[in-house]
Amino acid sequence: MIRPSDGGTGGPAGSAPTSSPVPDGGGAGGLLRGPGGDALHDVASRARVLFAGGKGGVGKTTVASTLALAQARTGRRVLLVSTDPAHNLGHLWDRAVGDTPTRLTTPGGAGHVDGVEIDPGRTVERHLDEVGRTLRRLMPERLSGEVTRHLELARDAPGTHEAAVLERIADAVETGLAEYDLVVFDTAPSGHTARLMALPETMSAWTEGLLRRQERSARFGAALRGLAQDDTDDDGAGGLVGRRDPRAERDGEIRRVLLRRRTRFERLREVLTDPATTSFVLVLAAERLPVLETIALHEQLVTLGVDVGALVVNKRSPEAAGSLLRARRAREEDHLRTLDDALAAVPRAEADLLPHDVVGEEALARFAGL
Ligand SMILES: Nc1ncnc2c1ncn2[C@@H]1O[C@H](COP(=O)(O)OP(=O)(O)OP(=O)(O)O)[C@@H](O)[C@H]1O
Ligand SMILES: [Mg+2]
Repeated sequence: MIRPSDGGTGGPAGSAPTSSPVPDGGGAGGLLRGPGGDALHDVASRARVLFAGGKGGVGKTTVASTLALAQARTGRRVLLVSTDPAHNLGHLWDRAVGDTPTRLTTPGGAGHVDGVEIDPGRTVERHLDEVGRTLRRLMPERLSGEVTRHLELARDAPGTHEAAVLERIADAVETGLAEYDLVVFDTAPSGHTARLMALPETMSAWTEGLLRRQERSARFGAALRGLAQDDTDDDGAGGLVGRRDPRAERDGEIRRVLLRRRTRFERLREVLTDPATTSFVLVLAAERLPVLETIALHEQLVTLGVDVGALVVNKRSPEAAGSLLRARRAREEDHLRTLDDALAAVPRAEADLLPHDVVGEEALARFAGL
């Protein structure tokens, strides 16, 4: 929720970040060591499901990976999942990551990080395969061509990829809660993420609609069958008791599939909106538009019932790196006051701009300040 500005020139007392010295190699003392670092660490330690979101290129993958590694080093088993179709977990950890969990941390630590890059294309194919098999089993042989046509259309229908990603998020949350201590999601740029967060509801509504339609057609079908079978049936119950009715069985199975799906999305929604389980970390740059967009994204998430646990202001201009960056840093303080005014209650951590990219486990550990 956006609080009104407290007016005046500054944000809440004590919330302005202190400048950090630039150690050898650049960067502050590390994301978890600087101002707000403890609060960020607490948010990650408490969460079972953590999302890193924000605009393109701000450092979502870096922050998600850093938090995953820091938690693994406290002994937790962490599943790190990239939902962004343009994956780069693999680049960042400097190893091949695919559609199934791959160990990212070097062996021997107390905990570990396994990484997955969700492949929406593959997910859609797998999903359509499954649906196709079920439909073909349930439909009369002569409709097989119809089923294929239907699936071909579904492949390119709007929302199919997002729905597939959502299925996989639901999978990852289920697997994560059962087999890991923490699931960290590295998400795609903001708009997409908020839509994804709203999807369980959209999908539930869609499933509800299908269920209602299916109920109506099942009732209609049963009535028709009752009429047609009146003169041949001898069980006195419209042909629906005491004998196998393939259509009733098919309707029943479709209904079960839809109900399973609905239960699944409801469960996902419950997990995502439970602040004791799930938290969102918003990553941003200390610039005017990113600050305003972060405030808007925060409001969107809160409206959806999702807890925003922390803000990470990344790529801060270092204080002691020449007059240009010092001047930039002063401008950044102005933008951050806007952020503090709007989101005073959300802890804010920050990391300085480094002279190099963050690549590999040790670089991530240094970035964290471990
Ligand atoms: N504090 C930093 N200093 C210097 N480089 C950084 C810093 N944080 C991240 N980077 C670099 O910036 C680039 C983008 O970071 P990252 O991939 O984490 O961003 P992203 O938000 O996930 O991007 P995308 O929206 O494309 O997924 C990477 O090359 C990363 O190494
Ligand atoms: Mg990324």
